[in-house]
Amino acid sequence: MRALSVSALLLLALGCCWGTQDNFLDEDVVEPVIQASKFGSLWPLPQKVQISDVPLKLSGTTFEFTDAKGSTAGASCSLLQSAYRRYFDYIFGGPKKQKMSRNRRSGPSEVTELQVSITSPDSQCDGYPGVTSDESYELSVDAPLAVLKAPTVWGALHGLETFSQLVYEDEYGAKTINSTKVSDFPRFAHRGILLDSSRHFLPIKVILANLETMAMNKFNVFHWHIVDDQSFPYLSRTFPQLSQQGAYHPYTHVYTPADVKMVIEFARLRGIRVIPEFDTPGHTQSWGKGQMDLLTPRVSPAPRRPAPSDR
Ligand SMILES: *[C@@H]1O[C@H](CO)[C@@H](O)[C@H](O)[C@H]1NC(C)=O
Repeated sequence: MRALSVSALLLLALGCCWGTQDNFLDEDVVEPVIQASKFGSLWPLPQKVQISDVPLKLSGTTFEFTDAKGSTAGASCSLLQSAYRRYFDYIFGGPKKQKMSRNRRSGPSEVTELQVSITSPDSQCDGYPGVTSDESYELSVDAPLAVLKAPTVWGALHGLETFSQLVYEDEYGAKTINSTKVSDFPRFAHRGILLDSSRHFLPIKVILANLETMAMNKFNVFHWHIVDDQSFPYLSRTFPQLSQQGAYHPYTHVYTPADVKMVIEFARLRGIRVIPEFDTPGHTQSWGKGQMDLLTPRVSPAPRRPAPSDR
């Protein structure tokens, strides 16, 4: 269902960026025929994936994400805890309810727990993803326990995404996930989208929706082309006149420092780093409106004077 929210742009852009078609564990599947693919439910395709025919159940009243003993990022890692809430919401369509009744027992083939283990001494929970980050993960889905292992939180985020994509509804509408093994890492370290908020101002909620969609596609770089000739929406505390004069509108079409902070943190929580773009010396026409004497004046050719002999 969530795949429907993936924009056509991302679909086009991503075909190249993550898995390869030629190293399935299942040697029998050699033809990448979309309709017949058993792996069509995962996007992008993991490096190695083995989905069995054993269907397991999941229920919003019993299922939970947990931190494995010995994980280097656990209850104190707010990045992981907020990811658990987000993915619970994606999978079950709402926040986790308090356990209401003790008598709701889990069935024999029910997944009640996805245990997450960060294995590297530096989990990077409080850091920012970079071009050299380890984004790999291993996921094993079984009943009652599913296990996700990743060196860093960045890999864990991708593993959670993969786990959520594996969940489907059976013919009675019950949440189901097949017993599965995945081993995955990105094919390319830089998987980015560029948004240009100078030619067209983009409201913050549009930028956040794009980041959300990027995370669903395991993208990791948001290239924020924030200013250019056309407008200067970045609100600088040091040079407020730049956006006051150079933005399409001085109040409604600007990004405040708080907005920028929010975008960077929203992105970080989804394993995405933000690269801002401020060009110079070209592409700066909008800067000249709020900053006198910044741009080189264009010198018009002097009007031709009549030569003495013309008189
Ligand atoms: C999951 O298991 C069901 C039946 O048990 C099977 O029909 C289906 O193809 C499996 N899904 C995938 C993606 O392999």
